[in-house]
Amino acid sequence: MMNHALSILPDAFVERTRQILNPTDLVLWEESLIHPALTVRWTGKPERAGLGAEYLKEQGFTPEPVEWCPEAWLLGSVTRRSVTSLEWVAEQTLFLQSLSSMAAVMAMGVEPGHDVLDLCAAPGAKTSLIHRRQAGRGILVANELSRSRVKRMLALLKRLRISDIDILTGPGEMLGKSHEKCFDRVLADVPCSGEGRFHLSDAASWSRWGESSINGLARRQVALLESACRTLRPGGEVIYATCTMAPEENELVVDRVLKKARTPMEVCEIDLPLEAGRPGLTSWKSHECAPELQRTVRVVAGFGMTPFYMARLRRTE
Ligand SMILES: C[S@@+](CC[C@H](N)C(=O)[O-])C[C@H]1O[C@@H](n2cnc3c(N)ncnc32)[C@H](O)[C@@H]1O
Repeated sequence: MMNHALSILPDAFVERTRQILNPTDLVLWEESLIHPALTVRWTGKPERAGLGAEYLKEQGFTPEPVEWCPEAWLLGSVTRRSVTSLEWVAEQTLFLQSLSSMAAVMAMGVEPGHDVLDLCAAPGAKTSLIHRRQAGRGILVANELSRSRVKRMLALLKRLRISDIDILTGPGEMLGKSHEKCFDRVLADVPCSGEGRFHLSDAASWSRWGESSINGLARRQVALLESACRTLRPGGEVIYATCTMAPEENELVVDRVLKKARTPMEVCEIDLPLEAGRPGLTSWKSHECAPELQRTVRVVAGFGMTPFYMARLRRTE
């Protein structure tokens, strides 16, 4: 069954992934492709979050709390349909969101009063969690290049009854100049090859995958991360995140930005107890990265998570 699962995916992709993951994590990845896990997050009043768990139990689920995200529950390997058919999910009081996506926001350490930029924001799932962490204090700017995706984001925010967000539509690469030193926290959840979101039942999810597209994306990612760094106030922090395993889009992007040093940045540890977290790579093929890249986090599949990458960088001056 396992080998059959991998034979559905492009050979070159599977071969690369074998070089990236250790044998144990490779098995976890194969298992997660066959039995994807689902997670939901409470979007109602924080003090009533317990109702979410009660409701899920009444509906026959076994919700497991998430240690580092108090309003999220792991549902395990259940069918998507069994979750989306729930009334509270349909009305988005319980919001279906991947645990990796929540981790990126929790790693930002957003506090009430922080001014925050979400550089590549649509469809707005992470924006809505950032908004919750701000607890009504501080500016939140959500930028997105695609007009049609901005419409989707506006619809989602409306459904979640969130109205106090400044929406910008344009290339995130420009914000470094227009919004220099404006923010305490920035999320750069950049467009990527999406390897962590390939689904065996959906060939479209990997139809555009290829090494040349990875390299093209990497160039855009460097420009977006440089812009994100520039928008930070001294002492401010950016989380650079992708949902892909490709080192060219992860450690190599961060390494390039650090070496170009247009904005002085340091790599910080990510303070989340993630069972699926692994240290960032410090080399890939012929490329050697700065040793501090191991402070960045590769989230592997399993433990309710999908493959993801996060780097936390602080502006030093
Ligand atoms: C990984 S998705 C973001 C997902 C979002 N953070 C969420 O959690 O719902 C990346 C987004 O970046 C947008 N994008 C692509 N190029 C961009 C650019 N140059 N500037 C800003 N956004 C861009 C894409 O349209 C896409 O919506």
